[in-house]
Amino acid sequence: MSDARLVSQSPDETRRLGQRLGAALRPGDVVLLAGELGAGKTVFVQGLARGLGFEGPVSSKSFVLLGEYAGRVKLYHADLYRLDTPEQAQDLALEEVCADGALAVEWPERAEYVLPQEHLWVQFQVTGENSRMLRLEARGERARDLLNSITQHLATRHRGV
Ligand SMILES: Nc1ncnc2c1ncn2[C@@H]1O[C@H](COP(=O)(O)OP(=O)(O)OP(=O)(O)O)[C@@H](O)[C@H]1O
Ligand SMILES: [Mg+2]
Repeated sequence: MSDARLVSQSPDETRRLGQRLGAALRPGDVVLLAGELGAGKTVFVQGLARGLGFEGPVSSKSFVLLGEYAGRVKLYHADLYRLDTPEQAQDLALEEVCADGALAVEWPERAEYVLPQEHLWVQFQVTGENSRMLRLEARGERARDLLNSITQHLATRHRGV
């Protein structure tokens, strides 16, 4: 399977979905999180960090572009919302950074050209006050494994094309 749609009815559910994926993350893995303001990208990253065994807080958009959470493996968290120039994105050297950890990027649309081509793309859509649709698309073999790890024990009604 290389794509799936998941429905979340609460922030906790989104966090749990992230947690399941976080438990499967390895160094070198890249998760790109796209979608409008308040769609739930950071909530999902909180789950990723928890799934990796990180116990501390994961903050929402701050003035730093890059956060680092050390759990079972390291998770790098970039938020490109405030990116001004393409050079700034280059300077982050995201591709090198994620060599020793997993990388989660919010607002990847702002710098797609500097992001690794193999990744799991998660597109968030606000479908109601507390509901969100997550469309996951795997680019590359490793991303397909990650996708399977998050979808394999979900009910069929949540799976899809
Ligand atoms: N099903 C849901 N999943 C995730 N968040 C939800 C859900 N329902 C409601 N929310 C609320 O939506 C908001 C999501 O905020 P979050 O910071 O994760 O968004 P974001 O996509 O990271 O936005 P930004 O682009 O500003 O970084 C939170 O206030 C959360 O409580
Ligand atoms: Mg955010």
